[in-house]
This record gives sequence, structure tokens and C-alpha cells, in this order.
Amino acid sequence: MPVDPRLAEEYLAPVDTARVWAEVDLDALAHNLTIIRSRAGAGVGIMLVVKADAYGHGAVAIAHHAVRCGVASLGVGTSCEALELRSAGLRVPILILGTVVDEEVPRVLRHGVEIGLHSFDRLHQLEREARRLGLQARVHINVDTGMGRLGVLPERALDLLQEVRRSEHVHLAGVMTHISSLAGNASPETTLQAKQFADVITTAQEAGIHCGRIHLANSTGLFSGLCPLYDTVRPGIAALGVLPETIPGGEDLHPVLSLRSQVVFLKDIPAGTPVGYGSTWRAPRQTRIATLPLGYNDGVPWNLSNRGTVLLAGQHAPIVGCVSMDYTTVDVGAIEGLCVGAVATLIGKQGAAQITVAEVARAAGTIPYEITCSVGKRVPRICVGGESPTLPSQVPTPACPPALVTPTARAVTAMERPSEPAPSKGARAHP
Ligand SMILES: Cc1ncc(COP(=O)(O)O)c(C=O)c1O
Repeated sequence: MPVDPRLAEEYLAPVDTARVWAEVDLDALAHNLTIIRSRAGAGVGIMLVVKADAYGHGAVAIAHHAVRCGVASLGVGTSCEALELRSAGLRVPILILGTVVDEEVPRVLRHGVEIGLHSFDRLHQLEREARRLGLQARVHINVDTGMGRLGVLPERALDLLQEVRRSEHVHLAGVMTHISSLAGNASPETTLQAKQFADVITTAQEAGIHCGRIHLANSTGLFSGLCPLYDTVRPGIAALGVLPETIPGGEDLHPVLSLRSQVVFLKDIPAGTPVGYGSTWRAPRQTRIATLPLGYNDGVPWNLSNRGTVLLAGQHAPIVGCVSMDYTTVDVGAIEGLCVGAVATLIGKQGAAQITVAEVARAAGTIPYEITCSVGKRVPRICVGGESPTLPSQVPTPACPPALVTPTARAVTAMERPSEPAPSKGARAHP
């Protein structure tokens, strides 16, 4: 018999959401943005990087709160990500940091999304499409100073900049490069990258080219303080409360993500009982196994098998056996009085204990980015906090300055022009 939809909603939804959930702490985001803002200094705009669904945290909620906190613009990886934010009502400038493919160009232009520009071919295509649509394409030229993936090489950058300047339908909104260093900026490569970028900017300015927004610093660049910040910084992971452990300053940040679940089954097993695929773990003594209804599909790395821990009743309990797609098993023999329904924390705080994203990454032999990006699609993101934006508002660069709109251009400015951020308590006007 088909399930009555009202009953399905009443009985199934709470069960689904209680199996496993990710808490996204918007107050922590606001706190981190305040720190980023003070590191960046007055007059430097924040382009918050929210690609890959804000590194798994949920891009729409993160972006909305960040904009309420005064973030001036957003960076994404793909057209789809940009359009998702536009359709969720975000009107601030959005830059596709990566690249577009041909078929995506018309929609991206119609929605006033800015595009990272790497090649003359793409410039010509943008010029044709923007002319056909009667719009201005807004681009940021990406100079490849050392990443070796996207971007125009420094020696061709001036030619590309000049060709953009000659273009009627393509407007230069910015110039950027990306630092390749993982460990901070004190490497010879970073010094060279920063120098090559500075040379491109100086040459362009000497040639009378107005570069728009100029940006290179990601979280590492911003916190290591060794590269120039220009007028815009482009942090991602620091806003989410995580920094590579080699960079000082991470201890002041608050983690935004917690990953939680609940015990669905407790089983007493005798010594020698195997647990999980491949019987990689056998109980060394009589003990109790708690089964948690989340696995590698939900963001528990398989590499935590027999290696990671989970917080239960405020204590660390070892993951035993292989993590499977839907389940994780934990030895809770040392924890007395645990019941089915007890909350398990895989990332985050419980009582005085904490498991950080960096710790999980280290135990799994990967980087923190991969841990948060791997929180699965079926894990609901539950936002907590977010009552009070804390940053002074920033006035984003006008999306399409009237002087630059060609006579035939249809106004995309209304679409792009951000609504005034709500005045926050104690907010002061941006200088
Ligand atoms: C071009 C670009 N800029 C900025 C960032 C943000 O980097 P992070 O999260 O390390 O601050 C990224 C992320 O990978 C990126 O690809």
C-alpha cells in the first residue's frame, strides 16, 4: 500500500535527519570573517571562495551569511555553482575562478557572472557571444605564475590585457594569479610567483590599463603575511575555520563544520569476534560495538578504518573494522551506560573533547579540504547561529560601470548590482 504522504513527512523526515547531519555554525563563519577582515586591512575586499558547495558546507547558506557579514564578492569553480548562487538570490559579483566550456557561456553572461580568462580564443568567443546578446562580459585575467593548469603565461599577459582593452563587449573586471605553495609563502616559488605577478601589474599600469580588482592571496597567502594583498583577497578554507597546521593563526579561527550521527545499534561480542569487511579487526576481549549509520559515502574516510576515533559521551572511542559505505563500527567497551540514540561526533566538539578536520585529515592521510568536501549528498546541512553579522559592510565594485556599457548593451547591472547589505549592529560604513 502506498505511504500516505502526510505520514511520510511526519514520521520519516525526523528519522532521516537524525541519522547523520552536518552542523554549519554561521557564528563561527562570522567570527572567522572578522579575523580575515582584520588581517586583510581596511579597504581590502574579501572574495569568499565557495566552490565545491563551500567545501562541502553548503554554498548557499555560507554565501548568504557571508554577504550579510559584508563579504564583497564570491568565487566559485564552475558555471553551475555560479548559477546556483544566482538562483538562490545572491546578487554580489560572482567570479568563476576556473573556466567555462563553450555551451555555458550564454547563460553565464545573461546572469552577470564574471569569468576567469585564460586564452585569446575564449576572449574572442566571449566577445562574439556578448555582442550577440547585447551584453558586457566581465572577465578577470588569470596569470599563470606557477600553477601550470589554467591561466595565461606572464609573457603573454600584456597582449591579452591589451586585447581585452580593445574589446567592445568584454570588460576587464580584475587580474589574478594563484599561489601554488601549500606550506605558506616563505618558499622561493612563492616569491617568484609574487614577483612575476607584480611585474605584469606594473607593466599593465604603465601601459595605461586599468586592471580592476587585483588579487592573489588565498588563506595561506593571507595568514602567512608574506605576499602583497592588493585590493582583494580570496580566502576559502580559513573562513571555514581551518588552516594548514604549518601556518600560524589557525588557533584563532573557529571550526564551522561538525559531523554528527547517532548510535543505532549496540552489540556485546565475545573475544575473537570479527568486525567489518575483511575481518580486519577481531575483538581482543569481550566488548561492546556501537554501530553508527554513516560511512564513507557520508564523509567518514575509509582510511579511518581501525585508525580514527569518534566522540561518544564526551570520550574518544576507536573506530574498529573497515568503514563501510553506510556504517561505521566503534568499540565502546570502555564507555559505560551508552544507549542507542546517543549522539556520536565524528568532527567537532562534544563536551571538553574535540576532533578537528585537520586531525581527521592527518589520520586519513589526506588534506583537510578533501575531508570537508567529502561530506556526502545525503547528509543534511543544518545551520546554527547566524543571528548577527559582525563585519562592517563592504561596497562591492559596481558590476558594470555605466561608462563601460556599450550602446547596444542590455543592462545587466540590475541583476548584478548587490542589494545593500542589511546594516549590522555596530556596523560602520566602509571607507
Ligand atoms: C583560484 C583559487 N583562489 C582561492 C582559493 C581559496 O583557497 P583556500 O581555500 O586555500 O583559501 C582557491 C581554492 O582552491 C582557488 O582555486
